[in-house]
Amino acid sequence: MTAEAVSTPAREHRGSILVVDDEKNIRRILRMIFEEDGYEVLDAATGEEALERLARSAVHLVLLDLFLPGMNGLDVLKQIVAEPDAPPVIMISGHAGVREAVQAVRMGAVDFFEKPLDRDRVLISAANALEMRGLRWRLSEAEHRLGKADDIIGGSPAMREVWSKIEKVAPTAARVLITGESGTGKELVARALHEHSARAKAPFVKVNCAAIPGELIESELFGHEKGAFTGAVQRKRGLMEAAHCGTLFLDEVGDMSLAAQAKVLRALQTGEVQRVGSEQVLHVDVRVIAATNRDLAADVTHGRFREDLYFRLNVVPLELPPLRERGDDIPALVSHFLTAIAASYNMKRKAITDDALEVLKGYHWPGNIRELRNMVERLLILGGDPIVTGDLPPSLRASRPAPAPSTPSAPDGLSLREVLRVVETEYIQRTLKNCDGNVTRAAELLGLDRTNLHKKLKSLGLERG
Ligand SMILES: Nc1ncnc2c1ncn2[C@@H]1O[C@H](COP(=O)(O)OP(=O)(O)OP(=O)(O)O)[C@@H](O)[C@H]1O
Ligand SMILES: [Mg+2]
Repeated sequence: MTAEAVSTPAREHRGSILVVDDEKNIRRILRMIFEEDGYEVLDAATGEEALERLARSAVHLVLLDLFLPGMNGLDVLKQIVAEPDAPPVIMISGHAGVREAVQAVRMGAVDFFEKPLDRDRVLISAANALEMRGLRWRLSEAEHRLGKADDIIGGSPAMREVWSKIEKVAPTAARVLITGESGTGKELVARALHEHSARAKAPFVKVNCAAIPGELIESELFGHEKGAFTGAVQRKRGLMEAAHCGTLFLDEVGDMSLAAQAKVLRALQTGEVQRVGSEQVLHVDVRVIAATNRDLAADVTHGRFREDLYFRLNVVPLELPPLRERGDDIPALVSHFLTAIAASYNMKRKAITDDALEVLKGYHWPGNIRELRNMVERLLILGGDPIVTGDLPPSLRASRPAPAPSTPSAPDGLSLREVLRVVETEYIQRTLKNCDGNVTRAAELLGLDRTNLHKKLKSLGLERG
């Protein structure tokens, strides 16, 4: 590994703020206040200058004076908020105009304050506005998923090791490459790394490298200017820019084309991006976490993945073990999913028998935790309460090192009727056992109605006392 490969991304700050005021003193004071509090500050003396700075820098928050020479504050505000993904704007005024304040807020400003500026008020308002930005992302993110990263379940030694690594690595800005089979929780871990880092309040931006066609990845990641290509009807900020100060999650990174890899590598090396069709270079500060279910090292050997990018991404490797190697986690996972999924459906939580859990533990789970989760969801909807072995699909029960399916050897001399009786008896007994003696469930599985099963049990002498 080269020395460059282990270097971490640029220094961290809490966000970049553009201060727009024609008074030099105000710009100086605000710069001092914000820089001291860990923000990056850009400034502009006029509205025209402000719009230009916005076009070529990643800005998270704008502080905008109402009364500016030339283009006035409200006109500037109107232009800013008209843009998609516009940063929030806080208005400043020397004239304490309530009328203008109301108008500005109606037009989309998030807050308003008067000169002389009060340091604490300014900082609180800025922090709130920036947090809103993070919250907006998290809200739209939340729609796509159930549960939080903190719900990583598993006390098995393998998972405890994963957790201790997350705790160590999360607070650093180090790049992490998460590997593991499909459904092992790579995305969940990536989110946990973000949520336990100093960047937690900034966006976590996920890029599914496999889902973006090669020719679009550049515009997705870096954005484009209006008219940069056919279909680019509006300026669009790229995902890298959106992730500024936060975390960029390159999911399925192994599926990225070589051309896209070259572009991503360049952005990671320089910390700079260029929107497609723009000459301007934007500085971005993102922490990159990547994940793949492929053997990237092998892809490097075969020339399918760039070695330099591999070393850059793989500063800290984090490997997630497949579920079949941590069967001890299954009861806790099942219990967690039963509770979470029942709550999301507004259903009563069901119980599950130990026998059924044993079967789940014995299965090899090729789809890992995702498959287990889907199974629990299905059992919650279709299974009985408690969920019993008989509720489990045959494919799953088959993988159990269970007693071999019986073809009872009929002793010579038995009539066909007697052989059938032996087979029936054994089959019914087994089904009942799988259903923990629940006759209704067993009847369902046997394709009989309840009364008929009772009659059968009676005729076979199986009725319980
Ligand atoms: N340890 C865990 N505790 C609780 N839920 C988990 C755990 N690991 C994974 N899950 C859940 O399993 C599902 C799959 O996880 P995730 O999407 O993170 O997997 P992945 O490794 O990214 O899969 P793929 O490679 O297919 O993208 C999600 O619903 C996730 O919440
Ligand atoms: Mg995933």
